[in-house]
Amino acid sequence: MKIIMLGAPGAGKGTQAKMIADQYGIPHISTGDIFRANIKEQTELGMEAKTYMDKGALVPDELTVKILLDRVAKDDCKSGYVLDGFPRTIPQAEVLDKAVKELNETIDYAINVEVPDENIIKRMSGRRACLACGATYHVEHVPPKKEGICDRCGKELVLRDDDKPETVKKRLEVYHAQTQPLIEYYNKKNILKEVDGTKDMKDVFADIVKILGA
Ligand code: AP5
Ligand code: MG
Repeated sequence: MKIIMLGAPGAGKGTQAKMIADQYGIPHISTGDIFRANIKEQTELGMEAKTYMDKGALVPDELTVKILLDRVAKDDCKSGYVLDGFPRTIPQAEVLDKAVKELNETIDYAINVEVPDENIIKRMSGRRACLACGATYHVEHVPPKKEGICDRCGKELVLRDDDKPETVKKRLEVYHAQTQPLIEYYNKKNILKEVDGTKDMKDVFADIVKILGA
């Protein structure tokens, strides 16, 4: 099963993608996580991506597309994957379509997690992330067992550099201008599914399972 998660920054794409990956036994692929891992390792790619991410801008397609195509070509993607944060522009979607078609495969679902902008800024300031293993928490909705420490790997939790309110506003602007058009793009391909992302995260997941089948 090949799934794309759509939605504004902070809509819960990552939260739901991880649950989907666990339930259906497919890899969760987040371009944002790949960039953050590279920033942490201070690779050349990471340093370049950071200059865009810190401003709330998109990393250029030339850098992003290659990383994603290399990742989905790996053996563990043969039975499917859930993409979180890719595609984010129409050209990225077209490259993905072409790559999938060359393998005689198809994307099964594009799930749009719908959350109004007003809810997003509040959510993001409460998010805490583990840069070591990619786990995310929320100070109110999903607190870690021990404050500031990742339940999964024991490392320190941080507020992401791009989760400051002024950067979140910029990311929302970029989302509406460059990424939202993908909703119509996938609607035209008849694979778009919408879920209400303002519900409790377990209820959002239950709605997704109804779409995907148990
Ligand atoms: P990326 O890491 O993809 O960030 P994003 O899309 O901005 O999305 P987030 O990860 O911030 O939010 P999310 O939807 O995953 O929400 P989450 O589940 O964490 O990208 C970062 C940057 O990298 C981009 O700005 C860009 O620069 C670059 N980049 C990445 N991919 C790119 C690409 N393809 N092309 C170009 N550039 C790219 O949830 C948010 C919070 O809310 C959490 O605290 C969570 O616990 C909480 N929460 C989740 N669901 C609920 C719920 N139902 N109720 C209450 N709280 C909830
Ligand atoms: Mg995410």
